[in-house]
Amino acid sequence: MEIKLFGTKDVRRPGDLQILPVFAEEEPTFEGEARELWKELQKEGVFTGKAGQTHSSRIREFGTYRRVFLAGLGDRHTVRPETFGLAVAAGVRGAMDAKCPVVDLVVPREITGTDYYREAGKAMVLAGYRFDRYKAPDPDESRQPVELVQLVTVQPEEANLLAAHGGMTLGRWVNRARDLVNQPANRQSPSDLAEEALRIGRETGMDVEVLGEKKIAALGMKAFLAVADASRQEPALIVMRYRGDEEHPERILGLAGKGIVYDTGGLSLKPTSGMLTMKTDMAGAAAVMGAMGMAAAEGLRLNITAVVAACENAMGPSGYRPGDILDTMAGKTVFVANTDAEGRLTLADAVYYLSSVEGAEWILDMATLTGAAEVALGTTVAAGISTDDGFYGQVEEAARAGGEKLWRLPAFDEYKELNKADDADLSNAGGRTAGAITAGLFVGEFTEGKPWVHLDIAGPSWTEKPNPLQTKGATGYGVSLLVSLAQSLAVSRKEPDLD
Ligand code: BES
Ligand code: MN
Ligand code: ZN
Repeated sequence: MEIKLFGTKDVRRPGDLQILPVFAEEEPTFEGEARELWKELQKEGVFTGKAGQTHSSRIREFGTYRRVFLAGLGDRHTVRPETFGLAVAAGVRGAMDAKCPVVDLVVPREITGTDYYREAGKAMVLAGYRFDRYKAPDPDESRQPVELVQLVTVQPEEANLLAAHGGMTLGRWVNRARDLVNQPANRQSPSDLAEEALRIGRETGMDVEVLGEKKIAALGMKAFLAVADASRQEPALIVMRYRGDEEHPERILGLAGKGIVYDTGGLSLKPTSGMLTMKTDMAGAAAVMGAMGMAAAEGLRLNITAVVAACENAMGPSGYRPGDILDTMAGKTVFVANTDAEGRLTLADAVYYLSSVEGAEWILDMATLTGAAEVALGTTVAAGISTDDGFYGQVEEAARAGGEKLWRLPAFDEYKELNKADDADLSNAGGRTAGAITAGLFVGEFTEGKPWVHLDIAGPSWTEKPNPLQTKGATGYGVSLLVSLAQSLAVSRKEPDLD
């Protein structure tokens, strides 16, 4: 898909379909037949411009037919980039359905600022996403991809085009993360995930290293290896190192993504219903890998090291058991209360490795860690846990800027008590209460006191409810948030302006 920017008076070949975003209860600025249509629909109460409302129609003007797609933005005073993005995505879907490869997006005069253009670019790419690689092509398929979007605006400025392009790039990395999450476990082993990381490294010129079982053992990652024990698939420790700030080599943001390619629960076996979507248990890894790709491709001015302890939590005769006591790379021992609480075991070794070997200064881990997080906050909001208000604040702001929902859970000291074990330093399951919190705090025990934030994305990484921006399945949650965080950390370290 390509985009071009036009002033309202510039000459252009009209698109096959015009997306016309309109505010509620307000006269639109466009004229001609489209305005007549709007008037009719308004009168009939069919289309009022409410946010999310759409109407697609064929109109005849100057002797030719074309399609118009009205997309509601709601009240002008409360409009946000996300509402605009949703309208744009709906329009692009409408164009695909109507087989219109060239689309005009007529930006209302009141929509200004690069945030809107970035969101529009992202929305165009997300709207086209599908996971259909295992489906025979449908001969009745009526959809056709959009090839060109012509942005028609009173502000045809370079900055807006750049922002739209940046949004499109972000959208592509989100879609790539979606592909990884949607890919079933029989077609995506830990090594396949590692291959993909290496591919991202080659594409963006980033250093990526993959350690196999022997090297993982040499590091002392016994908790990680215990989770991998039951599977015939070899685990892989994926390390991605992006260096964009050579002047401050010691300033490194550490990211850990949970990379369980499939979670059966192990001997503490899940029921089928709970297992059905457990190919998604590497959504944290996918988000981290996508964000690393974008940061490297864009050349952001900061250093990031990402780690994924990739393995399968299978069930089998060589697997670890409830009642086992494991060693960790950090030296703390862990009592296995439940083999289905495997994510925190792999993350414990991953974050400790980030801190002690890679020298990360801040650590963020992203994980589909608990059903409890989804029970607490629902399917669209991630749960945040942190003992560092400053770093958490930056992450929270990044979530807002990236258009992803996040809510903080408390991390009082008494919750840590729940992670204690009788015969070991820690237990991997804290009991019935406060499950999302105890899981997060368990990971925090291995960060050596560095500023740390844990994000539980069990809820928002997957959706059963499609909208123009997302099909059923993987959402790619987390990529936007992490990219925004990287961007803000890069910006905040800019040299002062000396003129
Ligand atoms: N991968 C699951 C968490 C999960 C649940 C992700 C639903 C996405 C949707 C995790 O490994 C798990 O099984 N957690 C247990 C922890 C418990 C045994 C302490 C859980 O949430 O039940
Ligand atoms: Mn589990
Ligand atoms: Zn899991």
